[in-house]
Order: sequence, then structure tokens, then C-alpha cells
Amino acid sequence: MKNLLKNFSKLVNRRSFLKKGFAAAGTTTVGAGLLANGLSVFAKDDGGEEKRGGLNKGDAAILRFLAAAEILETDFWVQYNELGGIQDDEVPGGSGSAAYTAALKVLDGDMDQYIHDNTEDEFTHQNFLNAYLASKGAATVNLEPFRTLPGSTATGSSLKLRLTNLMQLTLDTSWWTRYRSRANNPDLDPSFVFPQAVPGLNSGKFTAIPRTDADLAPADHLQAIANTAAFHFPTIEQGGNSLYPSVAQRVTNPEVLRIVLSIGPTETMHFQTWQDKAGNAPPLTDSTNGLVFPNLNASPLGGEDFQTNLIMPEPCPFIDPKLPVCSIIRPTETKGIATGVVNFLTSMGLFIGQSQAFFQLLGSLAADADNAKREQE
Ligand SMILES: [Fe+2]
Repeated sequence: MKNLLKNFSKLVNRRSFLKKGFAAAGTTTVGAGLLANGLSVFAKDDGGEEKRGGLNKGDAAILRFLAAAEILETDFWVQYNELGGIQDDEVPGGSGSAAYTAALKVLDGDMDQYIHDNTEDEFTHQNFLNAYLASKGAATVNLEPFRTLPGSTATGSSLKLRLTNLMQLTLDTSWWTRYRSRANNPDLDPSFVFPQAVPGLNSGKFTAIPRTDADLAPADHLQAIANTAAFHFPTIEQGGNSLYPSVAQRVTNPEVLRIVLSIGPTETMHFQTWQDKAGNAPPLTDSTNGLVFPNLNASPLGGEDFQTNLIMPEPCPFIDPKLPVCSIIRPTETKGIATGVVNFLTSMGLFIGQSQAFFQLLGSLAADADNAKREQE
């Protein structure tokens, strides 16, 4: 086991990743070219184990999709950390925006530390998943050819090109009421519409980081940007919270299951932390665009089930409405989960500006993950 860990640390060198981008360790890498003809990544595979490796096709596809999702998560967390987190040896890049960092700290004095730690976690997830795939002789994921989006030019940004776009977000904040509902589970009532916490964020496009230094004023605009970030954090992490248990249901190999079951709950830890901070977002109206952050402790929310310090899941129906309610992660429906996550991130605006080849690759990774089936070992 010790040797195994040593080998992983050789494969995974975060500093060299940061300098050169992720170069997969001596194995096939799924990137732009491979999918140019629209073929599914392993369409030609005979369904058996991947070359030289011990992973079956489905497990490898699930891990590859997770690696892609973690690479994308890392990319936008880095953008947050450059401007609003702590820049150090663990998460280098950027030099911070004092005004944006201060606006985030209105929600919690430790926001910069949490942003730093969440960013570091995502780095380790993407690095580990790709290194594990490589260690099993399976193809890894490289999204570096798609690092084409210009990011923030505000003071503090590294000015690097990005994979993701944080400057035109449309946020579905219904997780706020979904996790506070005692009556409805999206897996049992797929047509039930959970109300938005911040309806304004769900219609329109808003930046979650200062795009330029011009976004640092007026004060209500800068605070609205920090509030948008504070709702983007849990909106993303609740997705990871559902993704891991959903794919776990179709994993075959016990070690792959262990990986999925060990990373997934860290997304849950992120979600709960961020849900708590989002509840501290000061109510306001952005005078530049009219975006409203309502008082979440008042009507139409508020009350015992919606108070902002209610950050643990309310119990809800699970599996069968005849069974007693249960405090759970939801949704966890496994069918189509990867494609659902891609659609969720796309409709959030996270990929605005990305190329068709990017969407083809991501869609193909998701389709392969969704086709994975649990097999008898
Ligand atoms: Fe992650």
C-alpha cells in the first residue's frame, strides 16, 4: 500500500501540473482530437477490460467522467481563489482582490480559507482520478486544448486562459428548498418544482467574480457579485453531492467503489459549508442591474423549514413513500446522471464561449459513463 501511495505521488505533481497543465502519465489521453469524428471514446472497444488494465470499461468510463468534472471544478475554483481566496504554495496563482475578498468576508470571516481549501480539494480529486486511471492502464482525460476562455482582468487575476466562465452565470437555487422539503424528493416526484431561493439569479446572467476593476464599485454591485459567488458555491457542490452516489450504483470494482464513496462525501462537506455561508448573504438590490437578494428568513420562505441556519437536510420520502421519511442526499437516481450533470453545468452558463469540440467531448464522456453497468466481478 505504501508503495502504491508513493507511485501516486510520483504521478501526481501539482506544481508541475500548475506550470505545464496536466500531462497524463504515460498513457492514452482522451482529448480533442480523438472525438473530432464524433465517435464515442471507446466505441471500438470490445467491452472487455481496457488495455493492460484491471478496470472494466464501465468503471473506467465513470472515473473518466468524474475526472473531467473535477478538472472543470478545479478550473473555476482556481479563478475564485486567485481573486477571493488565499494564495500560497498549496494553491498558487493570482494575488487577490482586496475589495472582492472583503465583500466575500461579509458572509463569513473565513471565506478566503474555505475557498482556498475547496480549490485544493478539487486539484487533488482531478489529479488522483487521472493518476488512478493511468495506474490501471486506462485512458485519462486532458481538457487543456480547451483552455481558451479569457477570464477576469481585475487586479489579482493571473490572467490565464480558462476552461470555464464565471462571468455569465444563471443559477438554479432550488436546492435551497429541495433540502428543506419534508414532502418531496425529486427522485419520487420528478415533476415537482422546488421554489428558487434567489429567483433573480435563475433568470439573467450574472458575474460571480469582478470582471475588471470597474466591478469593484458601487458597493451594492460588488456585494451582489460576492453574493452570487456565495450561491454558486453550494449550487455546484450539491451537484457533486448527488453525482457521486448516483454513479456509485453502477460501479463494479470494490476499489473503484471505495474511490467514489470516499471522494463523494467531501463534496457534501463543501455543500454544507457553502449552504451555511449562502444563508448569510446580505439582502440587497444591485443598483447596476436590479438583481435582488431577498431576505431568506422572510416570506415567501422563512419559518421553521426555511430558516437560514437550517443547513442539515430535512428528512424526505425515500425509495417508497410508504416507508418512513429519511434524511438523505437527493437526488441519487443513477439513470442518465452524467448527461444530466453536463446539462446542468451548461445551462448554468459555465461553458459560455466553449467550442463545439468541447461539448462533443464532454457529451461523449458523459454518454459512456451513463452506459456503464455494474457487472459480476
Ligand atoms: Fe471535487
